[in-house]
Amino acid sequence: MRRKLVAGNWKMHGMRPHLREIDAIAAAARAHPQVDALLCVPYTLIAAAADIAPDFTIGAQDVHESDQGAHTGDISAPMLVEAGAKVVIVGHSERRADHAETSHHTWAKAAAARRHGLNVILCCGETEAEHDAGRAERIVQSQIEKSLPDGAAPDWLTIAYEPRWAIGTGKTPTLDEIATMHAILRAKLRGMIGPSANEMRILYGGSVSGANAASILAVDDVDGALVGGASLTAAKFVPIIEAAA
Ligand code: G3P
Repeated sequence: MRRKLVAGNWKMHGMRPHLREIDAIAAAARAHPQVDALLCVPYTLIAAAADIAPDFTIGAQDVHESDQGAHTGDISAPMLVEAGAKVVIVGHSERRADHAETSHHTWAKAAAARRHGLNVILCCGETEAEHDAGRAERIVQSQIEKSLPDGAAPDWLTIAYEPRWAIGTGKTPTLDEIATMHAILRAKLRGMIGPSANEMRILYGGSVSGANAASILAVDDVDGALVGGASLTAAKFVPIIEAAA
């Protein structure tokens, strides 16, 4: 039985005054212990967030594949651990698009995170053009083939399917489309890591809100949500945690 996971990705949002939202979200998470909840905040907030909500999971949104070195502006897995992060997102489509990250980078980043005991949320998803050309399944399968880290296991790795065209747009795939893609991902994972794939969580991400969360979370093989805009305030995020409970 896979526990639902509701993960927030604050992207490049959040300053110290927003810590009060984390406090309120952590309180709601405490009230719903049957659901796992976490927030991936900007690097600058990780330590403060981990401090104000020590029993709540705080994560990062990216990590460098090396442990240290001449990589101006980058952050390593040991640094994230020191700051208090427990989890990191890798392969987000905004990293792929804005920083030319490939599935190979994603693979190396996931491995670096794992070496230092971080849990990983590995993202995949097609662009609108790929979707419209009927290539979504092949693209997503290929991303998983190339980025699934060695030793991938459900106790530390979660997959997130985020169709790029649904991110921040208010558009979502139909529930049937979500079910189909998640079933394809589950089958792909089974082929790569065997029966333990049945325990691996696959999140859906892309315009999840309090209004659509319950129906999306009820879809077969949807084990939670990766939420952007609606994770920025307790008022919007808590209803999604409640929908998962
Ligand atoms: O990682 C979460 C994400 O990309 C979805 O963003 O704002 O559509 O919920 P949003």
